[in-house]
Amino acid sequence: MPSPPNSPLKIATLEESDIDEFVRMQIAAFPSQTARILYAPSAETAEIFRLNQRKMMKEDPSVYFQKVIEPDTGDIMACARWKIYPVPRDECEIQSKKPATSDSGPKKWQDRAKEAFHMRLHDYMRDVMGTQPLYHMLMTDPRFSRRGAAYTLLRWGISEADRTQLPIYLESSNMARSLYEKCGFRVLECFAMDLGKFGGAGIETVTIMVRWPRS
Ligand SMILES: CC(C)(COP(=O)(O)OP(=O)(O)OC[C@H]1O[C@@H](n2cnc3c(N)ncnc32)[C@H](O)[C@@H]1OP(=O)(O)O)[C@@H](O)C(=O)NCCC(=O)NCCS
Repeated sequence: MPSPPNSPLKIATLEESDIDEFVRMQIAAFPSQTARILYAPSAETAEIFRLNQRKMMKEDPSVYFQKVIEPDTGDIMACARWKIYPVPRDECEIQSKKPATSDSGPKKWQDRAKEAFHMRLHDYMRDVMGTQPLYHMLMTDPRFSRRGAAYTLLRWGISEADRTQLPIYLESSNMARSLYEKCGFRVLECFAMDLGKFGGAGIETVTIMVRWPRS
């Protein structure tokens, strides 16, 4: 694992009033990933992200939002969103989280690609992890990168995973892979999606990683 940061960074709960900043960071932090290509940065995308985060924060008790604050300025350095299922979910609940598809009218190629990609990732997780993973999303504001903020958030999740004996499942970007490897995650699968098949261009990849709990 990377060495602990020199200045101890503290984790706090991300509040509803932080959602605008969370979404700004979500769009800024993923410069060349699938999210950027499929969700073109725009006011519309930001609004969709805001609604999703707000809904999750208010309605889903399995979701934990966290932030790391810069000690001098009070800015949010990094955020994490964990989904923790201590009790195995039933099939019905898993299916209810299946990505939505729409049959109404012609779709943009990005929408068709998004649906296909999310469906594939959803089914893969269901097949390999069953009903009880702990999984997450992590991002650091590029202004605060490599100061240990992501590692601080990850360390919380790892100790929670070991305490509850749950595996952590995630979809890693190329940027994050070495951090996850240093923290004991292993690659399960690399997915590549040829955007050309949907009318776009390029190949997007996502690395599926998992960390099994230790006692
Ligand atoms: C990946 C990411 C979360 C790392 O955040 P961070 O706060 O800079 O990371 P930390 O300072 O806690 O950890 C540093 C370690 O992460 C890895 N890392 C961080 N930035 C990296 C980069 N640009 N390229 C390669 N490795 C990187 C390294 O292993 C690094 O350790 P080192 O500094 O000893 O070499 C951040 O760059 C980010 O938000 N990227 C875009 C979003 C993303 O990919 N999220 C993860 C998908 S689930």
